[in-house]
Amino acid sequence: MEIVMKKLEEYVRSIPDFPEKGIIFRDVTSVIQDADGLHLAIDGLQNILDGVDFDVVVGPESRGFIFGVPVAYNMHKAFVPVRKKGKLPCETVSQEYALEYGTATIEMHKDSIRPGQKVVIIDDLIATGGTTEAIIKLVEQLGGKIVKIAFLMELEGLKGRDKLAGYSMDSVIKYPGK
Ligand code: PRP
Ligand code: MG
Repeated sequence: MEIVMKKLEEYVRSIPDFPEKGIIFRDVTSVIQDADGLHLAIDGLQNILDGVDFDVVVGPESRGFIFGVPVAYNMHKAFVPVRKKGKLPCETVSQEYALEYGTATIEMHKDSIRPGQKVVIIDDLIATGGTTEAIIKLVEQLGGKIVKIAFLMELEGLKGRDKLAGYSMDSVIKYPGK
């Protein structure tokens, strides 16, 4: 009997009209709750980093932690969390960014990146690119050099990629819509 392995795309559950009408929510819980799905996701991200020389993975709370830490561990690199405002106990740098309604603030510890360190940013998804743009500002403020930005999924219709012009970025799964 031939065993056919499912493709990564097939593990992503798409929920129409969540969190609001007209949005298709691309759910990663259905990917990681399957051992093969989790492997394919982490392997896909690591493929993007093939041949990239870097020191640190930076990943944002909370879904960025899920994918950033295993990649950092497998590639024997450090992991630095970007957290939502008020969670980090030591001195921080903060950056506000736009959400669809209102704004949010993310923070990093001041001593989390040393000047000159080569940084890879990992997150589950790029939509508008606002979150990643804010992370870039924080990393560069600390003197880090961004050498790659990797996403599991990209909603190409939202043109988040345009916000990251000049940076090397790629995503494992590209959805043409929003
Ligand atoms: C989601 C997703 C990305 C971000 C992408 O995170 O995990 O981090 O939005 O959107 P953008 O490209 O428009 O900025 P969210 O802020 O919902 O938080 P979570 O990871 O804690 O679920
Ligand atoms: Mg997130």
